[in-house]
Amino acid sequence: PDTAIIVVAAGSGTRLGADAPKALVGIDDRTILRHALDGVFAAAPMQVVVVAPPGLEGVAEAELRQAAGDRADLGRVVAGGDTRQRSVAAGLAALWGDVSTVLVHDAARALTPPALVDAVAQAVKDGGPDAGVIPVLPVVDTLKRVEAADVVAAVDRSTLVAAQTPQGFRREPLEAAYAVALASGAEYTDDAALFAAAGHRVQHIAGSERAFKITVPADLERARHLLAGSPA
Ligand code: CTP
Ligand code: MG
Repeated sequence: PDTAIIVVAAGSGTRLGADAPKALVGIDDRTILRHALDGVFAAAPMQVVVVAPPGLEGVAEAELRQAAGDRADLGRVVAGGDTRQRSVAAGLAALWGDVSTVLVHDAARALTPPALVDAVAQAVKDGGPDAGVIPVLPVVDTLKRVEAADVVAAVDRSTLVAAQTPQGFRREPLEAAYAVALASGAEYTDDAALFAAAGHRVQHIAGSERAFKITVPADLERARHLLAGSPA
């Protein structure tokens, strides 16, 4: 395949507060990582690099094998780093073959629809030699800017969106942007910010409510309700 997805799963999940690394926490009888990989393998065939918590590569391998079925040859596991950006860099270094489109995806967005994965990949392919594409959702809350105890301004919500993953890029400019970030020591909030800092345009497509990130215990409850077929 000409497309790869890097599934970053190496975080500890401090805010979730479970007794295992977040990706290995169960939602139902399957872990967050397993659900994320089930979604990825339900999309068009692509190379899959799982970035695992260091020391737990074997557990991630087993999850990958289960999710991959007869596509195990498309998957690979590497150990992550101590920041998300370093984990993505480890995933990039593990790509093989002549992949030209790279998606970067949070394992924590466990219920992301396969159609969203395909839509991001397609938008990158349609977007030219240095395309960057992210899925977004409108911001629903009323937002305020504050200074100390005071509310100083309302923020125009119509110009703001919430970013999700998978975020998709052409491989060459993404690798170059990571090399620049590594050399400068800069840390970015997401891959799109790192890519934009290297001078590239980033476009957006419609995200999905189901691509929400499991961050705090209430998010895990929401995922459990969704899987049980009841409203979150
Ligand atoms: N991630 C990673 N390597 C890190 C940190 C994060 O691969 N060093 C991954 C997480 O596994 C997750 C995604 O990046 O799938 C988004 O990060 P986040 O939701 O912040 O997960 P954690 O960092 O694990 O959680 P927390 O910030 O609450 O500790
Ligand atoms: Mg984190």
